[in-house]
Amino acid sequence: MNYRELGRTGWKVSEISFGAWAIGSAWGSVDDSESTAALHRAIDLGVNFLDTADVYGDGRSERLIGQVRKERSEQIYVATKVGRRFDPHTAEAYNYDNIAGCVERSLKNLGTDCLDLLQLHCPPHPVYYNPDVFGALDRLTEEGKIQYYGLSVKPPEEGLKAIEYPNVQTIQIIFSLFRQRPAELFFKEAERRQVGVLARVPLASGLLTGKMKLDTSFPENDHRHFNIKGEVFDRGETFCGVEYETGLRAVEELRQLLPKGVTMTQFALRWILMHDAVTCAIPGGKRPAQVEENVATSDLPPLSDEVMEKAAEVYNRLIKPEVHYRW
Ligand SMILES: NC(=O)c1ccc[n+]([C@@H]2O[C@H](COP(=O)([O-])OP(=O)(O)OC[C@H]3O[C@@H](n4cnc5c(N)ncnc54)[C@H](OP(=O)(O)O)[C@@H]3O)[C@@H](O)[C@H]2O)c1
Repeated sequence: MNYRELGRTGWKVSEISFGAWAIGSAWGSVDDSESTAALHRAIDLGVNFLDTADVYGDGRSERLIGQVRKERSEQIYVATKVGRRFDPHTAEAYNYDNIAGCVERSLKNLGTDCLDLLQLHCPPHPVYYNPDVFGALDRLTEEGKIQYYGLSVKPPEEGLKAIEYPNVQTIQIIFSLFRQRPAELFFKEAERRQVGVLARVPLASGLLTGKMKLDTSFPENDHRHFNIKGEVFDRGETFCGVEYETGLRAVEELRQLLPKGVTMTQFALRWILMHDAVTCAIPGGKRPAQVEENVATSDLPPLSDEVMEKAAEVYNRLIKPEVHYRW
């Protein structure tokens, strides 16, 4: 496993890390013992950074991570998120009292007295223009409740605004073969300000693993069934906002570019790691075997210029018209 500096935090984190949404909720039924095994396997293989949120399974994901961390002696950094428990989810709800209340709950779920990294969880637009919110996060830092904070954002413009605040350490953003716009301007600015970048939805919700087909179906409690058109949350979080059939066509073309011995999943992750501004990709994993395949990406050589150009051509022709201007 290779490690990269996470912004100005001084942490070195695994370039392939672990996204813990699926082990909480919204991805069909999951088995806690299998999820626990996946987490342990990730740590065995050198993963030292886990991304979760207080709302993933209403704390289930955080509690599983807290339990696993207790069983391990390695230094494991946990990034969690706050905001999506606010009901209604308004900009006004992002105040010190509400955030502090959620922090207490996450501390308990994770079994710790200080959160390593707290991220605002795709907050409403006005939050980006309210310095009081960032003041509240500074106060929680001074109080020793959180060590660092960052944001999970939707479009790159939100990331650009967020990193104007001097104590924002990380930005989590959708970045994949199916979502390439962050590389245009946002990455340059994030690098200039030494902000850590966490690439979420790196496998386009599994579409980029190449295992899906036209007739693949998803259970009712899986967002790939209930959020195809953005019925419950932003459509861009499901399959990166790409129409399913378009995504399948693009995967078939990308498959022709695989270097020998590299799987489609690893190709998608290796493509992300080609971008120096990215600190780590956080692929979701439900099972040890998935984690093993994902983590092995870190040992693969860089993709050639020719392959990168061909992948860009597939994006420009098939994917860009659907997503580039929306997010
Ligand atoms: N708003 C936010 O802040 C936000 C939103 C989305 C995600 N995130 C974070 O980003 C992380 C990653 O994004 P994501 O989980 O949405 O999508 P993703 O990483 O693109 O896709 C993850 C899914 O792909 C499948 N998969 C993973 N590895 C595989 C492998 N080797 N072979 C075959 N299938 C594999 C698994 O589902 P199946 O086995 O069921 O196919 C897994 O749940 C999340 O876990 C979460 O931590 C944050």
